[in-house]
Amino acid sequence: MKLLIIANWKMNPQSLQEAKRIFDSIKRGVRNIKNVEVVICPPFIFMPSVGRQTPNVKIGAQNVFWEEKGAYTGEISPEMLKNSGCQYVIVGHSERRKYFTETDEIVNKKLKKIIETKLIPVLCIGETQEERNKVKTETILKRQIELVLKEVSGLKFQASRLCIAYEPIWAIGTGKPCDVEEAQKIGLLIRKIISKLYSRPISQKLRILYGGSVNSKNAAGYIKEARLQGLLVGGASLKAKEFIKIVRVVS
Ligand code: PGA
Repeated sequence: MKLLIIANWKMNPQSLQEAKRIFDSIKRGVRNIKNVEVVICPPFIFMPSVGRQTPNVKIGAQNVFWEEKGAYTGEISPEMLKNSGCQYVIVGHSERRKYFTETDEIVNKKLKKIIETKLIPVLCIGETQEERNKVKTETILKRQIELVLKEVSGLKFQASRLCIAYEPIWAIGTGKPCDVEEAQKIGLLIRKIISKLYSRPISQKLRILYGGSVNSKNAAGYIKEARLQGLLVGGASLKAKEFIKIVRVVS
């Protein structure tokens, strides 16, 4: 299974020209790396024109709506993404949960539609600093996974090639990443939860990613020591050189 390194550009950069420049540099920088799948998630408006996908550099979306079409001003449907050549969709990112009050129930609706449309979901879960202080991480993650996967059958789960990204909210954009040992523990916990909900073989196939203040210095630890299958990179993915380094050190 290939490692998965996802660039979440969030609401950046400010122009198509700049987006193309970063995309192009990344593409050139990772051209010869075959064991990593790189997915760039630009803002919707840049997706069709940021550049061509290659076998190891794909384009993904940061969000999606749960309906197929209709009167939903400002939204983008999974079908639209699919028809524009997009393969991956980030769903349930904590910034969407915070600023757009996306609940687990909403994330569940989105996830089901993403699976139905045969896009690959990258589900984000994670606890706040406060929840962590209260030693509630396990309970929170378990609840998030159970609610978000409600009514997703084992068969569908397997076919969806779902990836789960552990993104502790206290580590996002703070420069304080999660310890490698802790990330490893959480990785095992997520697999255990999935194994209980579905089955052990299904849980073994799941790709688990880490995200939160990832850079070229700490990236390798999550893959080589914590044995996770990928990374979700925010801030550092907008600096082409730094992002290329991240891909190189894990490959
Ligand atoms: P960060 O963001 O790498 O800037 O911490 C990660 C994310 O929000 O996906």
